[in-house]
Amino acid sequence: MTTTVAVVGASGKLGSLVCRLINESSDFELVAQLGSQSDLAEMLVADIVVDVSLPSISRKVLEFAVENGKSIMIGTSGWSAERINLVEPLINAHPEVGVIFISNFSLGSALSAHLATVAAKHFDSIEIIEAHGIHKVDSPSGTAVSTAERIAKVRDSDVLAPHADQRARGQLVSGIPVHSLRMAGVVAKQDVVFGGNGETVTITHTTLSDRSYEAGIMAAIRALPGLQGKIVGLDRVISLS
Ligand SMILES: NC(=O)c1ccc[n+]([C@@H]2O[C@H](COP(=O)([O-])OP(=O)(O)OC[C@H]3O[C@@H](n4cnc5c(N)ncnc54)[C@H](OP(=O)(O)O)[C@@H]3O)[C@@H](O)[C@H]2O)c1
Repeated sequence: MTTTVAVVGASGKLGSLVCRLINESSDFELVAQLGSQSDLAEMLVADIVVDVSLPSISRKVLEFAVENGKSIMIGTSGWSAERINLVEPLINAHPEVGVIFISNFSLGSALSAHLATVAAKHFDSIEIIEAHGIHKVDSPSGTAVSTAERIAKVRDSDVLAPHADQRARGQLVSGIPVHSLRMAGVVAKQDVVFGGNGETVTITHTTLSDRSYEAGIMAAIRALPGLQGKIVGLDRVISLS
């Protein structure tokens, strides 16, 4: 049996990838492609909805889907914990519906953040170096911020961050120095460096292309049919935490 899917933001860079993956799968069928000129009601022909549109309209898409009993997987950026809290009452009011928020579809990124939380309990000296292309305007990256927050959460004591008042020592995120490179030729890379007694450990994740999203997109879509309530993060979808 196939599950039918509506994609909001289907013509976008990420949306085109999502549509291709659904079309290539045997268990899902793409039945609606929505864009800026569409009526949101067009999604109602589908069993489930994927939102990969824009942060400014994503909340409206979520609300429309949930109010109409459609489970939805959201890959659009901007869903901070605070923003998710705002829609939690609506999600709770529709227990028959599932909602999945994925801020980063990369399987390797989810795995390396998880591995960093394992190493974080064993080393007191921890720093993050992230690199992206020159067009990324924000820094540090959302992934670096979330990695630092997760590391700090699993530790009982502060990370060693000497001389952190000096600019070249990076920006402290949850007490962890984060260094951002914005360089030509780079897609995305993150090193989490752990310093110990006479040794260091580095956990590196390198993004080479958008193909890194493919496994995570399909894992998240496959988790949606039959889901009740919300899941936040690819690590939860693939049961890393
Ligand atoms: N989770 C992840 O791993 C991940 C990875 C990459 C990107 N993202 C995020 O995914 C989102 C999309 O990125 P992108 O690069 O694909 O953007 P994009 O190429 O600019 O595509 C945006 C899409 O949104 C549609 N759209 C705009 N206004 C709309 C409206 N009012 N109603 C319905 N659809 C509307 C556009 O349709 P029209 O063509 O009709 O304007 C287009 O299809 C962004 O938030 C981005 O940060 C997430």
